[in-house]
Amino acid sequence: MHSLLSVPLMVKGKAIGVINVYKSTQYEFTEEEVHLLSSLADQSAIAIENARLYEKMVTLQEEIRRVEKLGVLGELAMEMAHEIRNPLTIIKMLLYALPVDDRKDLTVIEGEIDRINKIVSQFLNYARSEGPQWRDVDINQTLDNTLLLVSHRLNRQKIHLEKEADPDLPFLKGDPDKIGQVFLNLVINAVEAMPEGGTLNICTRNTGQHILVEIADTGQGISQEMKEKIFLPFVTTKKGGLGLGLPIVRRIVEEHKGEISVDGQEGHGTTFRVWFPLERGI
Ligand SMILES: Nc1ncnc2c1ncn2[C@@H]1O[C@H](COP(=O)(O)OP(=O)(O)O)[C@@H](O)[C@H]1O
Ligand SMILES: [Mg+2]
Repeated sequence: MHSLLSVPLMVKGKAIGVINVYKSTQYEFTEEEVHLLSSLADQSAIAIENARLYEKMVTLQEEIRRVEKLGVLGELAMEMAHEIRNPLTIIKMLLYALPVDDRKDLTVIEGEIDRINKIVSQFLNYARSEGPQWRDVDINQTLDNTLLLVSHRLNRQKIHLEKEADPDLPFLKGDPDKIGQVFLNLVINAVEAMPEGGTLNICTRNTGQHILVEIADTGQGISQEMKEKIFLPFVTTKKGGLGLGLPIVRRIVEEHKGEISVDGQEGHGTTFRVWFPLERGI
Protein backbone atom coordinates (compact mmCIF):
# COMPACT_ATOMS: atom_id res chain seq x y z
CA MET A 1 0.00 0.00 0.00
CA HIS A 2 1.41 3.41 -1.00
CA SER A 3 0.47 6.96 -0.04
CA LEU A 4 0.49 10.03 -2.21
CA LEU A 5 0.10 13.69 -1.45
CA SER A 6 -0.42 15.82 -4.53
CA VAL A 7 -0.50 19.62 -4.49
CA PRO A 8 -1.13 21.71 -7.61
CA LEU A 9 1.13 24.61 -8.62
CA MET A 10 -1.34 27.40 -9.20
CA VAL A 11 -0.69 30.64 -11.11
CA LYS A 12 -3.59 33.06 -11.50
CA GLY A 13 -6.13 30.31 -10.97
CA LYS A 14 -4.47 28.00 -13.50
CA ALA A 15 -2.59 24.82 -12.64
CA ILE A 16 0.87 24.84 -14.27
CA GLY A 17 2.06 21.64 -12.59
CA VAL A 18 1.91 19.49 -9.47
CA ILE A 19 4.22 18.54 -6.63
CA ASN A 20 3.86 14.91 -5.58
CA VAL A 21 5.12 13.31 -2.39
CA TYR A 22 5.13 9.50 -2.34
CA LYS A 23 5.49 7.17 0.56
CA SER A 24 5.99 3.47 0.03
CA THR A 25 3.93 2.65 3.08
CA GLN A 26 0.42 3.45 4.05
CA TYR A 27 0.49 6.82 5.74
CA GLU A 28 -1.88 9.57 6.57
CA PHE A 29 -0.31 12.99 5.95
CA THR A 30 -0.77 15.37 8.85
CA GLU A 31 -2.48 18.66 8.40
CA GLU A 32 0.82 20.38 9.10
CA GLU A 33 2.55 18.43 6.30
CA VAL A 34 -0.23 19.26 3.85
CA HIS A 35 0.06 22.90 4.85
CA LEU A 36 3.85 22.87 4.43
CA LEU A 37 3.66 21.31 0.98
CA SER A 38 0.95 23.77 -0.06
CA SER A 39 3.06 26.76 0.86
CA LEU A 40 6.06 25.17 -0.89
CA ALA A 41 3.88 24.75 -3.96
CA ASP A 42 2.79 28.40 -3.79
CA GLN A 43 6.39 29.59 -3.52
CA SER A 44 7.47 27.34 -6.40
CA ALA A 45 4.61 28.50 -8.58
CA ILE A 46 5.63 32.13 -8.06
CA ALA A 47 9.29 31.34 -8.82
CA ILE A 48 8.37 29.44 -12.02
CA GLU A 49 6.04 32.22 -13.17
CA ASN A 50 8.73 34.83 -12.52
CA ALA A 51 11.25 32.85 -14.54
CA ARG A 52 8.77 32.58 -17.39
CA LEU A 53 7.99 36.29 -17.35
CA TYR A 54 11.69 37.08 -17.29
CA GLU A 55 12.31 34.87 -20.31
CA LYS A 56 9.44 36.55 -22.14
CA MET A 57 10.82 39.97 -21.29
CA VAL A 58 14.29 39.12 -22.58
CA THR A 59 12.81 37.84 -25.86
CA LEU A 60 10.71 40.98 -26.24
CA GLN A 61 13.68 43.23 -25.56
CA GLU A 62 15.65 41.37 -28.19
CA GLU A 63 12.83 41.81 -30.72
CA ILE A 64 12.60 45.53 -30.00
CA ARG A 65 16.33 45.90 -30.54
CA ARG A 66 16.13 44.12 -33.88
CA VAL A 67 13.19 46.18 -35.11
CA GLU A 68 15.00 49.35 -34.08
CA LYS A 69 18.03 48.20 -36.03
CA LEU A 70 15.82 47.75 -39.08
CA GLY A 71 14.32 51.22 -38.71
CA VAL A 72 17.76 52.80 -38.49
CA LEU A 73 18.89 50.86 -41.54
CA GLY A 74 15.88 52.14 -43.51
CA GLU A 75 16.64 55.73 -42.59
CA LEU A 76 20.30 55.30 -43.38
CA ALA A 77 19.41 53.85 -46.76
CA MET A 78 17.29 56.87 -47.63
CA GLU A 79 19.93 59.32 -46.56
CA MET A 80 22.57 57.47 -48.53
CA ALA A 81 20.36 57.34 -51.62
CA HIS A 82 19.94 61.13 -51.62
CA GLU A 83 23.65 61.65 -51.05
CA ILE A 84 24.41 59.51 -54.10
CA ARG A 85 21.76 61.00 -56.35
CA ASN A 86 22.68 64.64 -55.99
CA PRO A 87 26.27 64.39 -57.22
CA LEU A 88 25.13 62.04 -59.99
CA THR A 89 22.75 64.68 -61.33
CA ILE A 90 25.54 67.24 -61.36
CA ILE A 91 27.98 64.85 -63.07
CA LYS A 92 25.41 64.07 -65.75
CA MET A 93 24.73 67.75 -66.37
CA LEU A 94 28.40 68.62 -66.70
CA LEU A 95 29.19 65.59 -68.80
CA TYR A 96 27.99 67.05 -72.06
CA ALA A 97 29.79 70.32 -71.46
CA LEU A 98 33.14 68.50 -71.54
CA PRO A 99 35.38 69.10 -74.55
CA VAL A 100 35.61 65.44 -75.57
CA ASP A 101 36.17 64.20 -79.13
CA ASP A 102 34.77 60.73 -78.67
CA ARG A 103 31.10 61.05 -77.76
CA LYS A 104 30.83 57.24 -77.57
CA ASP A 105 32.57 57.20 -74.18
CA LEU A 106 30.14 59.80 -72.95
CA THR A 107 27.20 57.60 -73.90
CA VAL A 108 28.71 54.75 -71.91
CA ILE A 109 29.28 57.01 -68.91
CA GLU A 110 25.73 58.29 -69.16
CA GLY A 111 24.42 54.73 -69.33
CA GLU A 112 26.33 53.82 -66.20
CA ILE A 113 25.04 56.89 -64.35
CA ASP A 114 21.50 55.87 -65.25
CA ARG A 115 22.25 52.42 -63.94
CA ILE A 116 23.43 53.77 -60.60
CA ASN A 117 20.33 55.96 -60.43
CA LYS A 118 18.13 52.98 -61.07
CA ILE A 119 19.82 50.92 -58.39
CA VAL A 120 19.48 53.74 -55.90
CA SER A 121 15.77 54.12 -56.74
CA GLN A 122 15.24 50.41 -56.21
CA PHE A 123 17.02 50.53 -52.92
CA LEU A 124 14.99 53.51 -51.83
CA ASN A 125 11.74 51.78 -52.73
CA TYR A 126 12.86 48.86 -50.70
CA ALA A 127 13.66 50.93 -47.66
CA ARG A 128 10.34 52.77 -47.75
CA SER A 129 7.32 51.02 -46.43
CA GLU A 130 4.04 52.48 -47.57
CA GLY A 131 0.65 50.91 -48.11
CA PRO A 132 0.17 48.98 -51.37
CA GLN A 133 -0.22 51.05 -54.54
CA TRP A 134 -2.29 49.02 -56.99
CA ARG A 135 -1.02 49.26 -60.54
CA ASP A 136 -0.43 47.10 -63.59
CA VAL A 137 2.72 45.16 -62.82
CA ASP A 138 4.98 43.64 -65.42
CA ILE A 139 6.36 40.69 -63.45
CA ASN A 140 9.22 39.98 -65.88
CA GLN A 141 10.30 43.62 -65.77
CA THR A 142 10.10 43.68 -61.97
CA LEU A 143 12.28 40.57 -61.82
CA ASP A 144 14.80 42.15 -64.18
CA ASN A 145 14.98 45.24 -61.98
CA THR A 146 15.65 43.05 -58.96
CA LEU A 147 18.36 41.11 -60.77
CA LEU A 148 20.01 44.37 -61.73
CA LEU A 149 20.44 45.10 -58.03
CA VAL A 150 22.24 41.83 -57.39
CA SER A 151 24.04 41.31 -60.70
CA HIS A 152 27.37 42.40 -59.30
CA ARG A 153 27.02 40.07 -56.35
CA LEU A 154 26.12 37.16 -58.63
CA ASN A 155 29.29 37.72 -60.62
CA ARG A 156 31.45 38.11 -57.57
CA GLN A 157 30.07 34.95 -55.98
CA LYS A 158 30.34 32.96 -59.22
CA ILE A 159 26.64 32.31 -59.35
CA HIS A 160 25.36 31.31 -62.74
CA LEU A 161 21.97 32.79 -63.60
CA GLU A 162 19.46 30.81 -65.63
CA LYS A 163 16.33 32.69 -66.53
CA GLU A 164 13.26 31.45 -68.28
CA ALA A 165 10.73 34.25 -68.57
CA ASP A 166 7.31 33.51 -70.06
CA PRO A 167 7.04 36.18 -72.80
CA ASP A 168 3.24 36.12 -72.67
CA LEU A 169 2.63 37.12 -69.09
CA PRO A 170 -0.36 39.39 -68.61
CA PHE A 171 -0.06 42.39 -66.32
CA LEU A 172 -0.75 41.68 -62.69
CA LYS A 173 -2.82 44.06 -60.56
CA GLY A 174 -0.50 44.74 -57.69
CA ASP A 175 2.10 46.94 -56.08
CA PRO A 176 5.28 46.82 -58.17
CA ASP A 177 7.55 48.05 -55.36
CA LYS A 178 6.26 45.48 -52.92
CA ILE A 179 6.47 42.68 -55.47
CA GLY A 180 10.03 43.84 -56.15
CA GLN A 181 10.69 43.44 -52.43
CA VAL A 182 9.41 39.87 -52.58
CA PHE A 183 11.79 38.99 -55.40
CA LEU A 184 14.72 40.82 -53.83
CA ASN A 185 14.32 38.99 -50.51
CA LEU A 186 14.03 35.60 -52.18
CA VAL A 187 16.97 36.24 -54.51
CA ILE A 188 19.18 37.54 -51.72
CA ASN A 189 18.37 34.50 -49.57
CA ALA A 190 19.25 32.28 -52.53
CA VAL A 191 22.53 34.13 -53.05
CA GLU A 192 23.32 33.87 -49.33
CA ALA A 193 22.70 30.12 -49.51
CA MET A 194 25.38 29.76 -52.20
CA PRO A 195 28.57 31.30 -50.75
CA GLU A 196 30.68 28.94 -52.86
CA GLY A 197 28.79 29.66 -56.06
CA GLY A 198 26.08 27.70 -57.81
CA THR A 199 23.11 28.21 -60.07
CA LEU A 200 20.22 30.58 -59.56
CA ASN A 201 17.27 29.44 -61.62
CA ILE A 202 14.44 31.87 -62.11
CA CYS A 203 11.35 31.24 -64.18
CA THR A 204 7.95 32.79 -64.71
CA ARG A 205 4.87 31.07 -66.07
CA ASN A 206 1.26 31.83 -66.82
CA THR A 207 -0.79 28.93 -65.43
CA GLY A 208 -4.07 30.39 -66.68
CA GLN A 209 -5.25 31.37 -63.21
CA HIS A 210 -1.96 32.52 -61.76
CA ILE A 211 1.38 33.96 -62.56
CA LEU A 212 3.89 31.52 -61.11
CA VAL A 213 7.38 32.71 -60.21
CA GLU A 214 9.98 30.14 -59.28
CA ILE A 215 13.25 31.07 -57.62
CA ALA A 216 15.54 28.07 -57.15
CA ASP A 217 19.09 27.79 -55.87
CA THR A 218 21.64 25.03 -55.54
CA GLY A 219 22.66 26.10 -52.03
CA GLN A 220 22.69 24.29 -48.70
CA GLY A 221 18.93 23.77 -48.56
CA ILE A 222 16.63 23.96 -45.55
CA SER A 223 15.96 21.23 -43.00
CA GLN A 224 12.42 19.97 -42.54
CA GLU A 225 12.36 21.41 -39.06
CA MET A 226 13.40 24.89 -40.27
CA LYS A 227 10.94 24.82 -43.16
CA GLU A 228 8.08 24.99 -40.69
CA LYS A 229 9.49 28.11 -39.05
CA ILE A 230 11.15 30.25 -41.68
CA PHE A 231 8.09 32.43 -42.33
CA LEU A 232 7.88 33.40 -38.66
CA PRO A 233 9.48 36.72 -37.63
CA PHE A 234 13.00 36.69 -36.20
CA VAL A 235 13.77 33.14 -37.29
CA THR A 236 17.24 33.15 -38.77
CA THR A 237 20.25 30.85 -39.06
CA LYS A 238 22.53 33.69 -40.15
CA LYS A 239 25.00 35.58 -38.05
CA GLY A 240 23.66 39.11 -38.05
CA GLY A 241 20.48 37.97 -39.83
CA LEU A 242 17.22 39.68 -38.94
CA GLY A 243 14.84 36.89 -39.86
CA LEU A 244 12.36 39.40 -41.25
CA GLY A 245 12.83 38.77 -44.98
CA LEU A 246 10.45 35.85 -45.36
CA PRO A 247 7.76 37.19 -42.99
CA ILE A 248 7.69 40.38 -45.09
CA VAL A 249 7.59 38.28 -48.27
CA ARG A 250 4.66 36.28 -46.99
CA ARG A 251 2.77 39.37 -45.88
CA ILE A 252 3.15 40.99 -49.29
CA VAL A 253 2.17 37.80 -51.13
CA GLU A 254 -0.93 37.55 -48.92
CA GLU A 255 -1.77 41.21 -49.59
CA HIS A 256 -1.90 40.16 -53.25
CA LYS A 257 -4.06 37.13 -52.36
CA GLY A 258 -1.24 34.93 -53.53
CA GLU A 259 0.50 31.89 -52.10
CA ILE A 260 4.08 30.92 -51.42
CA SER A 261 5.70 27.54 -50.95
CA VAL A 262 9.15 26.23 -50.18
CA ASP A 263 10.57 23.01 -51.51
CA GLY A 264 13.86 21.14 -51.51
CA GLN A 265 15.99 18.90 -49.34
CA GLU A 266 18.79 19.75 -47.00
CA GLY A 267 22.02 19.78 -48.99
CA HIS A 268 20.22 19.89 -52.32
CA GLY A 269 19.15 23.47 -52.79
CA THR A 270 15.89 25.27 -52.25
CA THR A 271 13.00 26.32 -54.48
CA PHE A 272 10.56 29.05 -53.56
CA ARG A 273 7.37 29.31 -55.61
CA VAL A 274 5.05 32.28 -55.58
CA TRP A 275 1.60 32.23 -57.17
CA PHE A 276 -0.10 35.52 -57.86
CA PRO A 277 -3.77 35.11 -58.84
CA LEU A 278 -4.69 36.93 -62.03
CA GLU A 279 -8.17 37.67 -60.65
CA ARG A 280 -7.76 38.90 -57.13
CA GLY A 281 -11.38 38.03 -56.35
CA ILE A 282 -11.91 40.79 -53.79
N1 LIG B 1 17.24 29.95 -50.30
C1 LIG B 1 17.47 29.53 -49.05
N2 LIG B 1 18.33 28.50 -48.81
C2 LIG B 1 18.56 28.08 -47.55
N3 LIG B 1 17.99 28.61 -46.44
C3 LIG B 1 17.13 29.63 -46.61
C4 LIG B 1 16.82 30.15 -47.91
N4 LIG B 1 15.94 31.14 -47.76
C5 LIG B 1 15.70 31.25 -46.44
N5 LIG B 1 16.41 30.35 -45.73
C6 LIG B 1 16.40 30.15 -44.26
O1 LIG B 1 15.34 30.90 -43.71
C7 LIG B 1 15.83 31.79 -42.70
C8 LIG B 1 14.98 33.04 -42.66
O2 LIG B 1 15.16 33.84 -43.82
P1 LIG B 1 14.80 35.38 -43.77
O3 LIG B 1 13.44 35.54 -43.18
O4 LIG B 1 15.02 35.95 -45.11
O5 LIG B 1 15.81 35.98 -42.71
P2 LIG B 1 17.41 36.16 -42.81
O6 LIG B 1 17.78 36.11 -44.25
O7 LIG B 1 17.65 37.50 -42.19
O8 LIG B 1 17.99 35.05 -42.00
C9 LIG B 1 17.28 32.00 -43.08
O9 LIG B 1 18.07 32.38 -41.97
C10 LIG B 1 17.68 30.63 -43.62
O10 LIG B 1 17.98 29.75 -42.57
MG1 LIG C 1 16.74 37.06 -45.82
